[in-house]
Amino acid sequence: MLLHDTFQRPLRDLRISVTDRCNFRCTYCMPAEVFGEAYQFLPRAELLTFEEITRIARLMVRLGVVKLRLTGGEPLVRQELERLIALLVQIEGVEDIALTTNAYFLPQKAQALKDAGLHRLTVSLDTLDEAIFQRMNGRRSTVARVLAGIEAAQRAGFERIKINAVVQRGVNDDALVDLARWAKAAGHIMRFIEYMDVGTLNGWRMDDVVPAKEIIARIHAAMPVEPAEQNYYGEVAERWRYVDGSGEFGVIASVTQPFCGTCTRLRLSPEGRLFTCLFGSQGTDLRTALRDGADDAALEDIVRRVWRVRADRYSEIRTSLTGPVPNRVQMYHIGG
Ligand code: GTP
Ligand code: 5AD
Ligand code: SF4
Ligand code: SF4
Repeated sequence: MLLHDTFQRPLRDLRISVTDRCNFRCTYCMPAEVFGEAYQFLPRAELLTFEEITRIARLMVRLGVVKLRLTGGEPLVRQELERLIALLVQIEGVEDIALTTNAYFLPQKAQALKDAGLHRLTVSLDTLDEAIFQRMNGRRSTVARVLAGIEAAQRAGFERIKINAVVQRGVNDDALVDLARWAKAAGHIMRFIEYMDVGTLNGWRMDDVVPAKEIIARIHAAMPVEPAEQNYYGEVAERWRYVDGSGEFGVIASVTQPFCGTCTRLRLSPEGRLFTCLFGSQGTDLRTALRDGADDAALEDIVRRVWRVRADRYSEIRTSLTGPVPNRVQMYHIGG
């Protein structure tokens, strides 16, 4: 029986964060001054094993999940991630398995991911401007390295790769048309994401957000576009296609046009907590029951209870919230 929350939203997607570690230090996610050498990430024993993750994913599929996305941190810093993918693809009922990565390890990993059965790849790349990119990722990578990763993924057989760019006014917004032009020519699908106030570390201000409307207008002025229909119920990206027939891009307007009404996503943290919203704080522990020997029925019961009482709609009510920011989960912990 399908599971619905208090707003009748079905559970359809499971986003699995496999690690809280990342080799980048993006200023809006893991600022280097906070995440220095001494920063204590989750110890290995705290992380769900691949077998534990697979068991949870399997029971989620019984509850309605059809789509899996692996995130982090940077998922490819987790050793042998392809082994997890090979386990997940065997679950009957999974229609789509995607991975979001910063591309750093793709040159050596792309083929193994493809061979394991990964369906789709999303690569994060905020700008093609080398100096700006390095400033944004804490000097951990170069544009050239990301492009090499994307090319390796194409060689391994990944097509129509999605490229995520978080747009921040005054930081990388000048170059967004360049990104769109590059992706259009290369056959990738750009996703321009409105910068969000996730976590508590990025010092977000509304003034830093470039509204999706403005992003579309800037691209349209350079390369005319028209709206495209959505691919599936609850798609977060609003799609636009180039009128010359050479591809599409999307905007993710979670700040100016929130999409909580169709939010079908449940997030699993690396240490086995369930979050029903990107802006949650505590989550619900599933690992203790799992490691105490709970059977599938008992675990399903926990998930059912979590989803049935779900009333999250943070992005829709953001502006009416007052008072201090609660202790929210960080983006690198729960994934994008
Ligand atoms: P597919 O349609 O599966 O290809 O993915 P997508 O292009 O919709 O992208 P993805 O689901 O990876 O999400 C991209 C970005 O959208 C994330 O990095 C977040 O910034 C934002 N996002 C995704 N899900 C949510 C959500 O539930 N709430 C909010 N507020 N933002 C989200
Ligand atoms: N706002 C919007 N998107 C974000 N991401 C990380 N932090 C933010 C933020 N503050 C996105 C990155 C990456 C994915 C992992 O999450 O662009 O593509
Ligand atoms: Fe790492 Fe992605 Fe966060 Fe950048 S946005 S620090 S690549 S997890
Ligand atoms: Fe879903 Fe929360 Fe994002 Fe709204 S803010 S779309 S409820 S994750």
